[in-house]
Amino acid sequence: MGFTLTTPLYYVNDRPHIGSVYTTLAVDTLARYRRLRGESVIFVTGCDEHGQKIQRTAEQAGVTPQQHCDRISALFADTWRQWGISHDRFIRTTDPRHRAIVQQFFERVEASGDIIEGQQRGWYCVACEEYKDDPGGGDCPIHLRPLEWRDETNLFFRLSRHQAAIEALISRPGFIRPDARRREVENFVAGGLRDFSISRVQLPWGIPVPGHDGHTFYVWFDALLGYVTALLEADDPADLSVALARGWPARLHVIGKDILRFHAVYWPAMCLSAGIDPPEAVFGHGFLTREGQKMGKSLGNTLDPERVLSRCGSTPLRWYLLRDIRFGDDGDIQQQRLLDLVNNDLANTIGNLLNRTIAMARRWFDGVPSPAALPDLDHPLARQAARAVEAVDGHYDQLAFDRAAADALELAAAANAYLSETAPWTAIKTPERRDAVAGDLYAVLEAGRLVGVLLAPLLPDLSADLLVQLGCPPLEGWSGALAWGGLVPGSPLAEPHPLLQRLELEEPL
Ligand code: MSP
Repeated sequence: MGFTLTTPLYYVNDRPHIGSVYTTLAVDTLARYRRLRGESVIFVTGCDEHGQKIQRTAEQAGVTPQQHCDRISALFADTWRQWGISHDRFIRTTDPRHRAIVQQFFERVEASGDIIEGQQRGWYCVACEEYKDDPGGGDCPIHLRPLEWRDETNLFFRLSRHQAAIEALISRPGFIRPDARRREVENFVAGGLRDFSISRVQLPWGIPVPGHDGHTFYVWFDALLGYVTALLEADDPADLSVALARGWPARLHVIGKDILRFHAVYWPAMCLSAGIDPPEAVFGHGFLTREGQKMGKSLGNTLDPERVLSRCGSTPLRWYLLRDIRFGDDGDIQQQRLLDLVNNDLANTIGNLLNRTIAMARRWFDGVPSPAALPDLDHPLARQAARAVEAVDGHYDQLAFDRAAADALELAAAANAYLSETAPWTAIKTPERRDAVAGDLYAVLEAGRLVGVLLAPLLPDLSADLLVQLGCPPLEGWSGALAWGGLVPGSPLAEPHPLLQRLELEEPL
């Protein structure tokens, strides 16, 4: 069974923004890591296209909802292509097969007695597509826009019947990460789960509820099932059991903290009701701000992914967001810090290490030097590398991308320090020390190679370039490539080029 791993399905009310890029880069990193470990990953992303928010956005743009969705979802697909995202599936909830899957799922839930009619009264945020626990009807705390009063008869999902099962599920170690988010959900659940409405009566832009004329599905009920529809392969029929057999349960949903309840409470309960395994784990990451301020169009301080990409490429932003912000915490994007980290870590520590070591190896040994002993597992850099390999592997596994980055970088720093200590540029002048220099340079190049391998999930382009410069074949697996001594003595080295140009940005990104 594959390792099914998902991003949220992004609303198509607007073009991709930096928040969607952030989640997607993180999941891409994890997907690449798991593939390198030999797992067969199904990396799902896509777009959430129904609901009132989308209907209104299309009306305002003067186009049909379908035209609007086609246009924006194409922008998402394009964005992921430009950023080199390695997803396996791109699901759109307007896909005709999805409609069938949602309806089949609903029939299972209804058959289990979990659907009742009820009166839904309350304050609704269209931007969140969610009722808020707000007695007064002020503004939505997230979108700062007025809530709207709703009073309608529709279909409810009997979430309250699943209280005990959800309590048991969320107390499972690792089901909700990080821990602080688990506690948030525990408190919410301890307050008592209430049934919630899953249909709308005056919303044409939605999937019709079978057997209930005039009702369309509440957008979240429909959207969460996108994770299942996405598992269908190209020629599969629109059949829920077929989709499930392809890769359910999801091993991990990665989402932002604002949509944690939907994933950690509502969705698992829906699955249980339909007789399906709930997802195995949910990771709720934090929110990005910009120079200390919430990002928003009205504030004019959003970071446009397209602009970032055209000005500095994907590597700097991947490095900055995943190295500097602990995944799970909120993070603040600061341009100066981005420049400093990218230039210090990537251009200097890793880039210069590679550049100068390759140059020395070419000049004195005409390629990769041949050390006297190989593999020399007692070499101080070999020992340091073994520690880094073990630690980095565990960090990726735990989505601790910042720590994976830091430990890989530390290995590069150790290799630099080793060069300074052994000063091969002086030693080479003494003919009897030539063998020692060969051993030292080999070790430094090998440490550099391992840095490249360790960074492959996080910085795929930089890693591929680094390995090419060392004359290594493209990476196929993780464990084989991580053993000390992979560089072939005597193999040629081409003239090196900088791994990353130093970033200079005069204007704000
Ligand atoms: N359509 C729903 C998800 C349905 S999943 C079956 C949705 N879409 S969204 O486009 O509004 O948000 C997608 C993700 O982007 C959310 O996880 C949200 O947390 C994330 N982000 C939106 N703004 C963000 C930041 N400023 N920073 C980090 N992530 C943010 O919700």
